[in-house]
Amino acid sequence: MNVVIKTPEQIEKMRIAGRLGAEVLDYITPFVKAGVTTGQLDELCHDYMVDVQGTIPATLNYAPPGHKPYPASCCTSVNHQVCHGIPGDKLLKNGDIINIDVTVIADGYHGDNSRMFYIGEPSIQAKRLCESTYEAMWRGIRQVRPGGLLGEIGYAIQSYAEKQGFSVVREFCGHGVGKKFHEEPQILHYGKANSGMVMKPGMIFTVEPMINAGRKEIRMLGDGWGVVTADHSLSAQWEHTVLVTETGFEVLTVSAGTPAPPALMAATASAH
Ligand code: MF3
Ligand code: CO
Ligand code: CO
Repeated sequence: MNVVIKTPEQIEKMRIAGRLGAEVLDYITPFVKAGVTTGQLDELCHDYMVDVQGTIPATLNYAPPGHKPYPASCCTSVNHQVCHGIPGDKLLKNGDIINIDVTVIADGYHGDNSRMFYIGEPSIQAKRLCESTYEAMWRGIRQVRPGGLLGEIGYAIQSYAEKQGFSVVREFCGHGVGKKFHEEPQILHYGKANSGMVMKPGMIFTVEPMINAGRKEIRMLGDGWGVVTADHSLSAQWEHTVLVTETGFEVLTVSAGTPAPPALMAATASAH
């Protein structure tokens, strides 16, 4: 077990990295509309990180074992794309849904987050998938507290997603994050409530469920990174980086433009 418990100084640096990661998503929001290509969005994100923020795009040339270097500064996953979509000449059109996943490195620490965006007016089913995935992420985050079990997070997400008639992707999970992009522990988005590691104050990890409108099975694209639903159904994902505090949780990937938590969070005590 190699879970890093962050010191107060490291937590402060993670707060800054988290805010900067969220601010990239704020920055890109007005550009996410019909007629733009995913490659143009990537270039805008890259230049904002490097030239305006002075942060490093963590995904650019990221090469975990068994993968070729990732060639872009964000991931753009459109419609039936589940995650890790490589930006390129794909033109966004009215009715599309897109996940943009951005990770910055600021002063050596990673801030990792993603949001869904609507292009024009997606179908009612597409919007319901995106909203349900957002609520699923928050239902997971709501389980974060010292002494709680990591399995509570996956159970909360899976039970809610399946009640909505959707399915949870199994092959990708949340992850510890800090000086390293991906570290222990793994955060499953499915599973049994009474299971998993005990959460301790100072742990920092992501919660980032991938939810499919149809079946849970996925397929890898030939580019070595992109992932799509096997049945071609729509897929959505949201991601925050979260700290376990002495009393509950603190979301670190917050900025002026962070979408408000869903109504169910009004009744939930957090560190903020
Ligand atoms: N940001 C993704 C995550 O949430 C990882 C992307 S790795 C990449 O963990 F290489 F595909 F960019
Ligand atoms: Co991410
Ligand atoms: Co992540």
